[in-house]
Amino acid sequence: MQRLFHNDTYVIQDKTFDSYISSKELEYIVHSLTQQIIQTYQQFNEPLIIIGVLNGAFIFLSDLVKKLNIPCEIHFIKLSSYDGINSTGTIKEIIGLNADIQNRNVLIVEDIIDTGLTIQQLKLQLNEFNPKNIKVCTLLFKQVNCKYNYKPDFIGKIIPDKFVIGYGLDYNNFGRNTDTIYALRDC
Ligand code: IMP
Ligand code: MG
Repeated sequence: MQRLFHNDTYVIQDKTFDSYISSKELEYIVHSLTQQIIQTYQQFNEPLIIIGVLNGAFIFLSDLVKKLNIPCEIHFIKLSSYDGINSTGTIKEIIGLNADIQNRNVLIVEDIIDTGLTIQQLKLQLNEFNPKNIKVCTLLFKQVNCKYNYKPDFIGKIIPDKFVIGYGLDYNNFGRNTDTIYALRDC
């Protein structure tokens, strides 16, 4: 069994990752997003429907909602377009949506938006249930890779085209369980 952490590096299988976003910075980012979300939704007299996209968003979402002192329902769905470090370009169906979102304000919480394909298709599918409004909050946004001029409503941090893990994000399902984000070392 490989031992994972050595100073600021993290080895998973054949890949080496270096510390990239510290837990302090993540705390600051999450705090700032929470404030923006409260400001946007506190005017509404109805609970917000939060939909976290598993698995990647589980740590981010749990930190985000702790200080979100507005009425909200929290739901999770599953849907993945990733295989290893390359996007497969296809999306799977939504699994686990039990919430009735008709005529409701919906906030999708994502770990990272890369090409934007997943989120665009997810929004299209959710729109078929006739919500009042759908907004998207993502911890990380690879703006340079994003197609169709798509821009999420709430962005934690814009990052370059780096493959990152940690704080929920994975490489082949490893590396999610950290409080820091690591980036794949350039070879
Ligand atoms: P997109 O459809 O290309 O925007 O990809 C979105 C999904 O791919 C995200 O929700 C992540 O699950 C995964 N993904 C994209 N970039 C990374 C990365 O750097 N590390 C880990 N997962 C990623
Ligand atoms: Mg994801």
